[in-house]
Order: sequence, then C-alpha cells, then structure tokens
Amino acid sequence: MAHEKKKFYITTPIYYVNDQPHIGHAYTTVAADVLARWHRLDGDDVFFLTGTDEHGAKVAESAKKAGLDPKAFADQNSEKFRATFQRLNLSFDHFIRTTDSSHERQVGAFLAKLKDNGALYEGEYRGLYCTGCETFVTEKELVGGKCPIHKTVPSVITEQNYFFRLQDYLAEVERRIREKEIRIEPESRLQETLGLFKQGLEDFSVSREKVTWGIPFPFDPKQTVYVWVEALQNYITAIGYSDDRSRFTAWWPHVMHLMAKDILKFHTVYWPALLLAAGEEPPKRIFLHGFFTVNGEKMSKSLGNVIDPNRLIDQFGDDGARYLLLSQFPFGEDGDIQEGRFVEKYNADLANGFGNLASRVLAMVHKFSGGEVPVADGVSPEVAEQTTSTRAAVDDALAHCAFERAFQSIARLIAFGDGVIDREKPWQLAKTDPERLKQVLFDLLAIVANVTVLHHPFLPKATAALATALGFGELTREVPPLPPGRSLATLMPLFPRLGEMKK
Ligand code: MSP
Repeated sequence: MAHEKKKFYITTPIYYVNDQPHIGHAYTTVAADVLARWHRLDGDDVFFLTGTDEHGAKVAESAKKAGLDPKAFADQNSEKFRATFQRLNLSFDHFIRTTDSSHERQVGAFLAKLKDNGALYEGEYRGLYCTGCETFVTEKELVGGKCPIHKTVPSVITEQNYFFRLQDYLAEVERRIREKEIRIEPESRLQETLGLFKQGLEDFSVSREKVTWGIPFPFDPKQTVYVWVEALQNYITAIGYSDDRSRFTAWWPHVMHLMAKDILKFHTVYWPALLLAAGEEPPKRIFLHGFFTVNGEKMSKSLGNVIDPNRLIDQFGDDGARYLLLSQFPFGEDGDIQEGRFVEKYNADLANGFGNLASRVLAMVHKFSGGEVPVADGVSPEVAEQTTSTRAAVDDALAHCAFERAFQSIARLIAFGDGVIDREKPWQLAKTDPERLKQVLFDLLAIVANVTVLHHPFLPKATAALATALGFGELTREVPPLPPGRSLATLMPLFPRLGEMKK
C-alpha cells in the first residue's frame, strides 16, 4: 500500500545560552532527531527545529560575569550548541536564535494581535521572581523560602508590566486538553497538567520593565518582552508566522513539541492560551519526557558532574553517544545516567550485538559466496515472520516515543540472527550442504538489511555505512531487495570494541 505523504513538524525547547551544552540538552534533541529521521524514512515531509533562547536576565547576568556584552556572549554559546548538535549528527532543518531579526519582528506582530484581541492589560507586578527559572513565583511554590529547583531565594520585584488575561482562556485550553484536541503525553504529564487547572493559575506578565536584554516591547519602549513569552513563539516564527503565512499554515497543524517535564506549565497551559488569544490553533501534540540525574545527583556545575556530549562523542562516536543517551532508561520516565556503565553497554549492544552480526554476515558472504548475494528463493518463512513482527513492534514503539521498546525489539532480531548462525553453522554447511548455505546466507542478509533500516533513525552513520556495503541507495522504510548476484562491499567494523571490557 502506498504510504500517504504527510507533514511532520518536530520541535525541541530552545536552550538557554547561559549554559554550555550538556547531555540534558543533547537527550531531547537526539530524541527529536530519531523521530525526524523515522518520519523521513517513511517518506514524510519533515521540519525539525531546534535552537537557542538568548534573552532575559539570566543570560544578561552570565554575560556580565563572563565580561562580555550579552549579544557577543550569546553568539559564542549559541555556536557551541549548534556545533555540538552537528557533531551528534542531528538533522535539524533550522537552528533558530531568538536574537534573529526575523524572530524579533514576528514577535512584535504576535503581541500586536494579543493587544488587538483585548488579551493584554496594564498592571503592576509585585512579587517574587526566580531568575534561574526566568519565572514569576508565588510563596507557596517555595520550599524553605527558596526556589525548589535552583535553591536560591527569589528576588522581590515591583514592576509596571503588561499582563496576559490567562483567565479568559483557561476553560477552553482545559476543554481541548480533556478532549485530546491537544494531546499531552505520557499520561502522567496529562494528569499533572489537569492538576494545574484545579489548583488555579494567575495571569502573568508579558513584559518586563527592568530587564533591558530583550526584544523591545512594542507598546512601551521602556519595557522588553518577557523572555518566556517570546521564546515560546520560536515555534511559530521559525515557520513564518507573520512573514510567510502560507508556509506557516502548511506546517503548524503538524507540530509536535518535545521537551522535559521541567517546562510543562509553559507548554501545556500558557502556550496554548497565548495562541488561542492570538487567534491561532494550539499545538496538537506535546510529549514531555522525564528528567534524569547523573550518578544519582542532579547535574550541576557545583557538583562537577555535568557531562559534555562532546566527551561522549570523542569516546563512543556520534552513533555511540546517541545510543547511550537514549538507552539508559525508558523515555518518558525519570531516570539516572550512570557514566560508569557506558563502556559495558556500548560493547554489549553495539560492538558485540549489532556491529558483530553485521561483520560476521558480510564476512561469511565474502568467504562462502564470493562476496555476492547468493541465489535463493526469497527469505525463509521463519525469517520473514521475525522481520515483519519486529518492524511492526518498532513502528508501534516509535509512535509512542518508546525508544527502549524499539531497542529491545531490534536487539531480539539481532539475537535471532546470531541464533541462526549458531544453529546452522554456515562453515559446516559450506562442506556439507551448499544449497542450504545459500538460503542461510540470504536469510542472514535479510536480517541485517532489516536491522539497518530499523536502526537508521538511532544510528545514522553506522547504518549508512552498512547500506552502502549492501548496495542500497537512499534508505526508506521499505527494506530494499537484495538481488542475487549483487557484489557486496567489505565492511569496516561499525563499532570497534572498547577497552575496560569485563574479562
Ligand atoms: N529556554 C527554556 C526553554 C524555552 S522553550 C520555548 C529552557 N531552556 S533549558 O536550557 O533550561 O532547557 C531545558 C530542557 O533541556 C528540558 O526541558 C529538557 O528538554 C532538557 N534537559 C535539560 N536537563 C535535562 C535532564 N537532566 N534530563 C532531561 N532533560 C534535560 O528551559
């Protein structure tokens, strides 16, 4: 059945440039890349957006500490994010920066809409602000008088601000969430969101009077746009919200926002409300994954346990780093990343698992079949059944962002392939039953071909090398045929085994 070409627009949070890129940022962006590549394999039209969040008090303070002007500081750090993401082989179609002039201009247009639609009013904000979170906080959100995330005492501020009439939109946002017009996943995050409506939410400021590092507020040049309000808009300015309406209307209905649960309220409540107020549709799908610790502790500069993705890439390669990040614990749940287990996991799953099967099969084809795809009457029924069921399982897992389930299914197919080799012993068949040998080698090639396609979104570099060795063109979801007689190239080890392996 021909697959209908669809659009898929996937976003990640835009990351604050006060920080260096770490594996928390890499985690979400690798996950988004997997979804983007999976949809591209399917023939879908994909737009994958990531980028950096550059304005606000937090970035301005860090720039000052670094002795740089905020824009120069943002330039420097934004580039580190982009370079790191490129090294991770992330296939983003656009890297947005909130200091881009097109973003700044379109934010002005969005705010004008809010104002025209009567969604803004002037008022005074007297209260608390946590610069670490870049958010207004209430007494009841504090623990021992401190922000529970940053463990800092929030500042007390009094500012003349423009406020957003959140109250006017809450009922409609809640209705759309309950009726799944806005799908919030996983279920635990949906419940958390519904809890927020019950608790009650206050109107919030869309402008800041005393923050100068920001987009000038269109209706009062003494103020700047509140950083979260413009940051959220990156998702629409990147696709031409007011600059290119036809592009915007083509992509926006197909958006999926991906992030961790730390920024739930902004995405599941504030953002849909702002969009409704501006006369736009809210996002259709929001997936909030868990938050991880490193060796049991929150990653922080002061603890010195921040892992730079570049360090992982140096040690394990880009595919290895991607795999290790996503394979630690189920996506969607909270978890712990234990760096000490990386080598063992890499060796077990990639070197001894996938890499070894691919090398063994190609080596046997070279040894016993002159490097050519053997003549066989299609794959045997048992192998066809295994590959078909694995494909269905991986499809289902990826539709639910259950990467660990996808890994398990692929690993089972690899183990099945290893089992075929152990059982059939091709080196003996070479002497005793050459016809059977052809069938076995053909089956094994079919297994490797299927693993190549299924692993492609996770391990794009190794699977591309394998696809070349198998003589495949550009990969799609349909596993390409292996015509008998085709000469196969030899294969360099995909995942060289690393030291420190258990004896
Ligand atoms: N700038 C805002 C987002 C604006 S989006 C319109 C922001 N930036 S951030 O740099 O703090 O990034 C937060 C995001 O980074 C999380 O939502 C998550 O995607 C990722 N993560 C950072 N640390 C992480 C973990 N320890 N665990 C899981 N995800 C992590 O918030």
